[in-house]
Amino acid sequence: MGPFNYLSRPISEHSLLNRHYIVSVAESNGYSAFDFHARILYIYLSMSTARVHINSFGCQMNKLDTALVTASLKQAGFVLADGIEQCDVVLINTCSVRGHAEQRVLSHLGNLKHIKQTRPEMIVGVVGCMAQRLGGELLARDEVDIVCGPAQIPQIAELVTETLSGKKKTLAVTEKIRQASEEQTRALEEFESAADADDRTVPNQAYVRVMRGCNNFCSYCVVPFVRGPEVCRPPKAVIEQIKKLADRGVKSVTLLGQRVNAYEYKQGRKTYCLADLLEMASEVEAIKWLRFVTSYPSEKFFDGILQAMADLPKVCSYLHLPAQSGSDGILQAMNRHYTAGQYLALLARARAAVGDIAVAGDFIVGFPGETEADFSATVDLVKKARYKNAFIFKYSPRPGTTAEKENQNNIPDEVKKRRNTELLDVQTKISDELSSRFLGKEVEVLVEGLSKKPHLDKADSRGQPQLVGRTAADYIVVFNGPLSLAGQFAKVKITKTSPLTLFGELKTIATEVTDAVLSSLKANEESNTD
Ligand code: 5AD
Ligand code: SF4
Repeated sequence: MGPFNYLSRPISEHSLLNRHYIVSVAESNGYSAFDFHARILYIYLSMSTARVHINSFGCQMNKLDTALVTASLKQAGFVLADGIEQCDVVLINTCSVRGHAEQRVLSHLGNLKHIKQTRPEMIVGVVGCMAQRLGGELLARDEVDIVCGPAQIPQIAELVTETLSGKKKTLAVTEKIRQASEEQTRALEEFESAADADDRTVPNQAYVRVMRGCNNFCSYCVVPFVRGPEVCRPPKAVIEQIKKLADRGVKSVTLLGQRVNAYEYKQGRKTYCLADLLEMASEVEAIKWLRFVTSYPSEKFFDGILQAMADLPKVCSYLHLPAQSGSDGILQAMNRHYTAGQYLALLARARAAVGDIAVAGDFIVGFPGETEADFSATVDLVKKARYKNAFIFKYSPRPGTTAEKENQNNIPDEVKKRRNTELLDVQTKISDELSSRFLGKEVEVLVEGLSKKPHLDKADSRGQPQLVGRTAADYIVVFNGPLSLAGQFAKVKITKTSPLTLFGELKTIATEVTDAVLSSLKANEESNTD
C-alpha cells in the first residue's frame, strides 16, 4: 500500500465527481498498468501544499475520523494549519446526535460565511454525520463548497484537491444509507487500515474502530441513519492495525463501536467476538492498556467479555454501559431491549466478575411521555448503579427517528433542565464518594500532556507544569511534573479529590519507561547547559 491509496477510483472515472451523488467508491482492485500510472501521475500533479484547518465536533468515532482525514490530507501533501486565519481550506467534522451539536456547526458556518466575504478563495467543507443527514441543504449554503459523508472520507483529499483546482461544489454522500454497499465497505476498510493515523491528539494512545454503523434503532437516535448498517471489521485487520500502532509507540488502545460488545465476525467455522479481539490484542507486547466503548446492555457475549476482563491484565476495569433511563415504560418506548432490573443484574454480574470495575453511564431526560414517576425510577437506578460518572442529556428530537416522527416532544424545556440538574446532582454526590476513596493512595496513570484547566497553581516551586493523565479505570488525575512524561506511565499519590478529578503528587515513573524518560530529561539538561 503506497501513500496514495486514498484515491480509490481509476482516473477515467473522475468525471463522475461532477455528478451530484457519489454513491459508491468503486473497485479498488483490478487496475490496468495504465490506470495505475495515470493515478500516480494525477496525484503527483495534484499534490498540494495548501493549508488545511480541521475542526472536529462529537464523539470518539468522530475524533478517529478526524485523525484519518488528517493523515490522508498530510499524505497528499497538504499542510495542517492551527487556525483559520491563514488557511486555504477549512473542514468541519460534524455530529448529528443532538440538535445542539448541529446548531454549533451552523453558527460556525455563519462565521465562515462572514470571513469568506473578504477571503472568497477559502474552501469550506462539511464532513461527517451532518453532511450525510443534510446533504444538498448544506451545499446550498453560499459558504459551503464540499459536503462529504462519513462513508466518503476516503475521498476527502481528492475532493479538496478538485475544489482547489477550480471545481465548484461537490456533494459526496451515500444515497441509500441503510443499504450496505460492499465496495464502500471495502474502500473504508482499505482507507482505515492503511492510514498512518499518527495525528493522535493524546500521545501514545489510539482509537481503533472494530465496527461501523448501528442496527439497533433506538427510537431517539440518528446514528443508524447517518452511519448506516452495522459492519464488523475483520479481526485480522484490527489486530494488524494495533500492531502497527504499537510499533509507533502506542501503549493504550481503545476499541470503538456503537455497540462494541456486539462485535461478531464469522470466518470459516469460527465466530470471533469482542473477547477474542481483546485476547488477540493483549498478545501485542507493547500495548499495555486496552479499553472498549460503547457497550449495549445485552446478554449476548456479556459473560465472555467479563471473563476476558477478569483474565487479561491489560484489559482495563472500565465499562461504559449506557442505561438511558431507569423506567421500563420509557426503555420500551426508546426501543432498548432490557428492563431496569435486567440492566442492574448485568451490572451486578460485572462487579462480581471484575474486581473494582469502574462503570460510566449515559442518560436521556425528558424523553416524550416521561412522567415524574419515570424520572424517579431513573434517579433510583442511578443511585443503585453507582457510576464513576454519567453523561446526562436532555432529549433532542432528531429528524427521521421514530420518536421524532411520532412528534411528541412533549416535555417542556424547563422540565428537562430541572431533571437534568437533579440527576446530575445525585450523580455528582456518588462520583465524589467514589473519588474520595483514592485519597492517600498511589495510582498509575498514562500521562496525556499539559492540563487544560489550571485547577491548582499552574507550575510548582520547581517550575514544573501541571499535567493531566488517566488511570486504567479512566479517572482523570492532575499533578505537576515534567512535560517529557507525556505519553508515559507514571505513579501519582492522590492528595485531594473532587467528583470528576483526582489531584496528586508525582511519585515515580513506571520502571519500563524510566530509561527512556531519564535519557530524554538528560538530553534536555545537556542542551540547556550548552
Ligand atoms: N437526544 C438526547 N441525547 C441523545 N443521545 C443519543 N441520541 C440522543 C437524542 N436524540 C445520547 C445517548 C447516547 C449518547 C451518545 O447521546 O445518551 O448514549
Ligand atoms: Fe444509537 Fe442505540 Fe445504536 Fe447507540 S445503540 S448508536 S443509541 S441506535
